[in-house]
Amino acid sequence: MKYDHSFSYEFLANWKELPVADQILVDRAYEAMESAYAPYSNFRVGTAVRLDNDAIITGSNQENSAYPSGLCAERVALFHVGANYPKQTVQTMCIVAKGDLIPVKKMLSPCGACRQVMLETENRQNNKIRIIIVNQDSRTLIINSVIDLLPFGFSAGE
Ligand code: THU
Repeated sequence: MKYDHSFSYEFLANWKELPVADQILVDRAYEAMESAYAPYSNFRVGTAVRLDNDAIITGSNQENSAYPSGLCAERVALFHVGANYPKQTVQTMCIVAKGDLIPVKKMLSPCGACRQVMLETENRQNNKIRIIIVNQDSRTLIINSVIDLLPFGFSAGE
């Protein structure tokens, strides 16, 4: 079996270069970041997703003193969509974060568990999810599909 996976991404110096609709999503992700409960890592993450009915759903990381019980912002947002908007499609997902855990200039990227959940969301809805990652120094990465973040990912079925 041959598996060809090449992909392209866009890189902007600042998220203010994004189209207005995306800038609104970034704003909402920063707003969501304020509700992060992150007393253990002090790393605050915010996510905003735009659905195909144009609703914006947000999430933030929620930690717990029993560390593994906490959940990342991306999964908080996507599971909220699954539970409350099961018929909607996720068009675009924006991720922002702030904290010393990651140096300001280092690019942010979703963790493996979140990529797994993002991939299943994309597969379930049979529509690509655009991902906008805003770094702490405002540099912005735009990825066209979750498959680009998780090639050879595990998934059930054919
Ligand atoms: N975190 C996220 O919310 N998203 C990620 O993709 C990576 C990490 C959270 C989990 C934890 O609350 C904190 O950031 C530090 O790992």
